[in-house]
Amino acid sequence: MLAGAEEMKLMEEAVKARKRSYCPYSNFAVGAALLCEDGTVVLGCNVESGSFSPSNCAERTAIFAAVAQGKRKFRALAVAGGNQGEAPGPCYPCGVCRQVMAEFCSNDFKVICKNEEGQVEILTLGELLPRHFSLL
Ligand code: THU
Repeated sequence: MLAGAEEMKLMEEAVKARKRSYCPYSNFAVGAALLCEDGTVVLGCNVESGSFSPSNCAERTAIFAAVAQGKRKFRALAVAGGNQGEAPGPCYPCGVCRQVMAEFCSNDFKVICKNEEGQVEILTLGELLPRHFSLL
């Protein structure tokens, strides 16, 4: 489904968050904007490390920051990513981030991404990660 006005606004926030990306190793800058149930938006960016494995994706940065602020209910997440210095291109959440989304969000949680055709589209978490692992 293509994004409407509200989702496009969230994508604009993700584009702003992307400016804060720390990605000297991959030069792939990602921003995320998480719309919480209370209407607030929490931003995240990817943060890399010289020893690589401690790096964190923009989506998880936003979710972890929101949880640390006492928020656990979320409506939607927009992701903007692409090579640093270029406009955002197609960028879908990695598998680890999808699993973290599934920790807090239901299958109808909206994930807003730019697709290969350059359009902003809405996917659901259920589409991105069907039959996710859960201990709860
Ligand atoms: N990255 C994200 O932040 N989100 C994604 O959905 C995919 C990848 C980051 C991780 C790393 O810093 C860089 O992009 C290249 O993989």
